[in-house]
Amino acid sequence: MASIDRSDPVILGHVLAEHRDLFNLMHSVESAFTAAGPPTPERRARVLESLHMLRDHLGDHFTQEERGGFLEEAMTRVPRLSSAVRSIVAQHPALLTELDHVIESLGIVTGEADPWPRAAHAFESFADHMTAHERSENAVVQEGYNEDLGLVE
Ligand SMILES: [Fe+2]
Ligand SMILES: [Fe+2]
Repeated sequence: MASIDRSDPVILGHVLAEHRDLFNLMHSVESAFTAAGPPTPERRARVLESLHMLRDHLGDHFTQEERGGFLEEAMTRVPRLSSAVRSIVAQHPALLTELDHVIESLGIVTGEADPWPRAAHAFESFADHMTAHERSENAVVQEGYNEDLGLVE
């Protein structure tokens, strides 16, 4: 058997693990939003806490990706992935802004208008965008690393 480039499953595994962590954090936010009962100050605090945890993690995750690592490596291995990688990385600021808006909308206490349904809906759409984003990253990494493995032989 030919030797296998061991960074392939390791890197892909790391990326997938990171994305799973993010998915779990997004899931906690969703659970906090959908918990039964009226949107009491306690529930609002719980949702905000989970949103802030997600925001911190996501900020670090994006910074890490932008510093190089698996996306850059995939691009180096398979140069035609460059434009896909550039457009993926270019989505980061918009995703962070979208999440910041959800957080801001819940932080504002207007007294009469209920920000809850709108914020929950805005979060759902953020989660959809985020899922699509991570899916395209996984695809790029898989393609980058698999193609390189194919070329080694
Ligand atoms: Fe990303
Ligand atoms: Fe990512």
